[in-house]
Amino acid sequence: MTRHLLRDDDLTSAEQREVLELAATLKADRFARRPLEGPRAVAVIFDKPTLRTQLSFTVGIAELGGQPVVVDGNLAKIGVRESVPDVARVIGRQVAAIVWRTFEQARLEEMAAHVEVPVVNALTDDYHPCQVLADLFTVAERTGGFASSGPALAGRSFAYVGDGANNMAHSYLLGGALAGMDVRIGAPDGYLPRTDVLERATAIAATTGGSVLVATDPREAVAGASAVATDTWVSMGQEGQSAEREAPFVPYQLNAELLAHAAPSAVVLHCLPAYRGKEITAEVIDGPASVVWDEAENRLHVQKALLAWLLERA
Ligand code: CP
Repeated sequence: MTRHLLRDDDLTSAEQREVLELAATLKADRFARRPLEGPRAVAVIFDKPTLRTQLSFTVGIAELGGQPVVVDGNLAKIGVRESVPDVARVIGRQVAAIVWRTFEQARLEEMAAHVEVPVVNALTDDYHPCQVLADLFTVAERTGGFASSGPALAGRSFAYVGDGANNMAHSYLLGGALAGMDVRIGAPDGYLPRTDVLERATAIAATTGGSVLVATDPREAVAGASAVATDTWVSMGQEGQSAEREAPFVPYQLNAELLAHAAPSAVVLHCLPAYRGKEITAEVIDGPASVVWDEAENRLHVQKALLAWLLERA
């Protein structure tokens, strides 16, 4: 059966480890795997703005021997000009895989239901699993390395502060729990993670030795953490609400005072783009704990690994 990555827990814990280990191989030797040799095409579709995701997927597909075909969602108007199933039937016959950044998770699920090639979530309103794979890889690389047993993530604590209801928070919960990490979300009331995601992450953590904590006190979330992440307070599609979305998040700004509650060796992550002076200070994102540029580069390596892994099973 064709495998997809529509949300983080489409991979098991062991499979997540395999992808991260393959990413380490591909970071050491960028041309070690060429599953798209031909070249075979991969459709990379964007219904929302992007820099990193378009760059890393197009470069990565080329390095895997393939041909990226970027589809502008504003031109394709998927679901408006024609239905998602009709688009799926057209694209699915011509490419080896489909990468899609879109709005509702249901659109991605509908695409996957109508193709026989892997579909990868390049960000939806609900999840951003490729980013979280890159973040986990970065934490492993910077804190414990890649032991023979896999990336050294299990038992480490990962804190995220800010909008606990957004796609990054949901993916950190699922992806971090799969990695056996202690995942803490620090978010204000009204912006807490979705209950079903929290329950799913808690159930996963029970099988991996990880744990899940949601706190409205950002210092409680960050206390002793090995890694601390944040994200914009205004996600894509929420631009019209930027005024009212600022005040609740001010106490959750990732600044030097908050970071001082983390472990002394803690690393700082941000999926970017970042808004200095809003969710993170310049002092922190441009400071010695920040690993955001490695994190952005690692999108390339983990997505290549993910595509190679999925294509081996297609
Ligand atoms: N982090 C991230 O997904 O970046 P882009 O929105 O620029 O693709």
